[in-house]
Amino acid sequence: MSKIIKKKLKDLKLSNNFRIRKVKDSGNSHIFVHKNKEYLSFASNDYLSLSNDKRIINAAKKSLDNHGYSTSSSALISGYTKSHMKLEEEISDFLGQEKTLLFSTGYQANLGVIKSLVNRNDTILSDKLNHASLIDGSIISRASFKRYRHNDFKDLENLLLKSKAKTNLVISDSLFSMDGDIADLKKINKIVQNHESLFLIDEAHALGVYGNEGRGFVNKYSLNKKSNIFVTGTFGKSVGTFGAFTSGQKDSVEYVMQKARSYIYSTSLPVNAVEATRESLKIIQKENWRREKLFSLVNYFRKNISESGFNALDSRSQIQAILIGSSKNAIYVSEQLLKNKIYIPAIRPPTVEEGKSRLRVSITTDHEESDIDYLINILHTISRNLVQS
Ligand SMILES: Cc1ncc(COP(=O)(O)O)c(C=O)c1O
Repeated sequence: MSKIIKKKLKDLKLSNNFRIRKVKDSGNSHIFVHKNKEYLSFASNDYLSLSNDKRIINAAKKSLDNHGYSTSSSALISGYTKSHMKLEEEISDFLGQEKTLLFSTGYQANLGVIKSLVNRNDTILSDKLNHASLIDGSIISRASFKRYRHNDFKDLENLLLKSKAKTNLVISDSLFSMDGDIADLKKINKIVQNHESLFLIDEAHALGVYGNEGRGFVNKYSLNKKSNIFVTGTFGKSVGTFGAFTSGQKDSVEYVMQKARSYIYSTSLPVNAVEATRESLKIIQKENWRREKLFSLVNYFRKNISESGFNALDSRSQIQAILIGSSKNAIYVSEQLLKNKIYIPAIRPPTVEEGKSRLRVSITTDHEESDIDYLINILHTISRNLVQS
């Protein structure tokens, strides 16, 4: 092994930030099966517990028989089918947007959209807690990259006032993936409008969960069809399938299609993933009980979590973060949970700031109150040992 890499690996291990993958034999939203053992999982983004839904699986199977697996091409060459076109139209209808462009992943969507919209003469103003794909897209764009303090509108406004760029692009998650709190999109949009900026909103964790029939925050606050707003969404979370998109005004999305390299130079989504998503969207709109149960569980968790000896950050969403502090302690708590058949991985730097390692508790529709009771009981025992150790 190269001496350089050996040293880098050693440093990572010493900092307790070395990562390992745990093979999942089966399961998803609330169950994780590993080496023939079943764990109660709070580690999945399958918030509506749809990824194993038979209707979605059957839609994918049927499509496989008709279309095979790969599209064998990017969308602009020969990888764009009627299924892709229909899903784009259905998402536009669902969100109340004019046009939608499918990407293979949310990561690619964010890279593609940001790089299409700004260049080295421009400035990006990005919430400090935005997702890594938004950060990476910003860096690749070569625009001047400024991060405003989390949800701090004064800071955002000050940065906009100072900016002399031709184009300013403001970027925010609508629901923050590691803290679970929600951006005040209406307030940000007011600032954005005053400064005639562009605004990219990442709805990855809100889609399916928030808004009427799961249409997300942009729709909920009537920010759809605004000429300066772009929305990213991904299907790998509450939709329970795979893929992603950007939506917005017709001309804006058309422009992204012309420019986004992560769209132009990448194989399009397999048709079975597209058909699975079309089926899932129907279920998401119809089955309101999934959201109702999810939020009832979230309330139950919040009402009782302090009994565990740990506190959760201030979040009303399905993402509940239990702040531990050091990576070492976060790993310790996660390992103790594992010994008690609960799977919640420790989230550590660089995903979160140094000293803010945590357990990210992800609640899903298939959980029950008894699952939360069990988690709180075990955490209670761990918290007592953690104080003594
Ligand atoms: C806020 C946010 N945006 C984008 C992505 C990327 O989506 P995908 O998993 O489809 O690449 C994620 C996934 O973790 C996310 O949390």
